[in-house]
Amino acid sequence: MPGKIKQIKKAIKILEIANAVYKLLGANGHIKDIREGPKVYSCDYSLDNPGAVDLGKLIKNLGGNLSKIGDKELTIDLAKAEQDIVQLASLLSSPEFKKTKNALPVIFGVDTVGKPMILDLFKMPHLLVGGQAGSGKSTLLKSVYESLTRKLKSSALKFLIIDSKNTDFAKYKNSQYLLKPIVNKPEKGLVALEQVVDIMNERYAQLRAAKVKNIQEYQKKHKDMPYIIVMVDELSDLMAQNRREVESCIQQIAQKARATGIHLIVATRDLSRGNISDMIRANLPTVVAFKTRDKSGSVRILGEGGAENLLNYGDILLSNAGRMPVRMHPAYTR
Ligand SMILES: Nc1ncnc2c1ncn2[C@@H]1O[C@H](COP(=O)(O)OP(=O)(O)OP(=O)(O)O)[C@@H](O)[C@H]1O
Ligand SMILES: [Mg+2]
Repeated sequence: MPGKIKQIKKAIKILEIANAVYKLLGANGHIKDIREGPKVYSCDYSLDNPGAVDLGKLIKNLGGNLSKIGDKELTIDLAKAEQDIVQLASLLSSPEFKKTKNALPVIFGVDTVGKPMILDLFKMPHLLVGGQAGSGKSTLLKSVYESLTRKLKSSALKFLIIDSKNTDFAKYKNSQYLLKPIVNKPEKGLVALEQVVDIMNERYAQLRAAKVKNIQEYQKKHKDMPYIIVMVDELSDLMAQNRREVESCIQQIAQKARATGIHLIVATRDLSRGNISDMIRANLPTVVAFKTRDKSGSVRILGEGGAENLLNYGDILLSNAGRMPVRMHPAYTR
């Protein structure tokens, strides 16, 4: 009996969603599939007569509901009234994370239907993370830390954390994974970034001397070159003080550091052009957009609108080098 009640409740829910979708879209087509994830229902809708439909008007009707539009089909994500929190702890112990072969596996939460999203920072290889205050940027950075430290030994992985708010990363202050103590003063942020550039250049000399092209070849021969993950939280505190020098470091790291095993993650809530300058935007093509206050913030970071329609936290659009943004729900960790 309880199983039956569950089934009936589910059917009612799906009817409600179908109703909502027809309200938004009119009877221009039919629903093909409805899938439930932790935070949204994704509904595939097929247009019966695509030529006869004013797509512009349809999209306008969708309002704040994120959608992916094709020629004949669209997927619309409707926010659930009761949303689940995606817990990092359960993803850390998931089979998907356990068996990943990624060089630098990072848990990005789950996709809209709840499938674990484990990506390889080695391939991304640097990230610009932007979104309004409280949208979950620092939480994602902590997921990066927790994922990587679970998989790599401290002899093979070091973090350099520039945390100018001095709150989110304090718990890691005695960690053996730190390259140097957490940098809390914005004015010391530039010094730290300059050190990273120096390390990168020294590593290039090491690679040349060993006659190898990159860290992975070097590790096969010598094994003593740890990956370094540089996390800047929050960029605007550094830009306010040493704009040109900070830009220059970011540019050099973004262009050259990957072969030397150095990866940069820059987070910011200030999506203005004054902060995310054209140079920074051009050098960090892999973008994680959290909810933005308005469309212009989304356009600045993502190159298009959409992030203004995300949920308040735990909801991102990830865009890898200009490819179509993919929606994911990052995991929560303290
Ligand atoms: N993935 C998540 N799932 C559920 N809740 C979340 C998630 N990420 C963040 N939160 C909630 O939002 C709060 C703010 O998150 P966080 O500090 O990461 O935001 P932020 O973008 O770094 O903010 P700020 O701009 O102030 O630095 C968290 O304390 C938590 O309560
Ligand atoms: Mg933060």
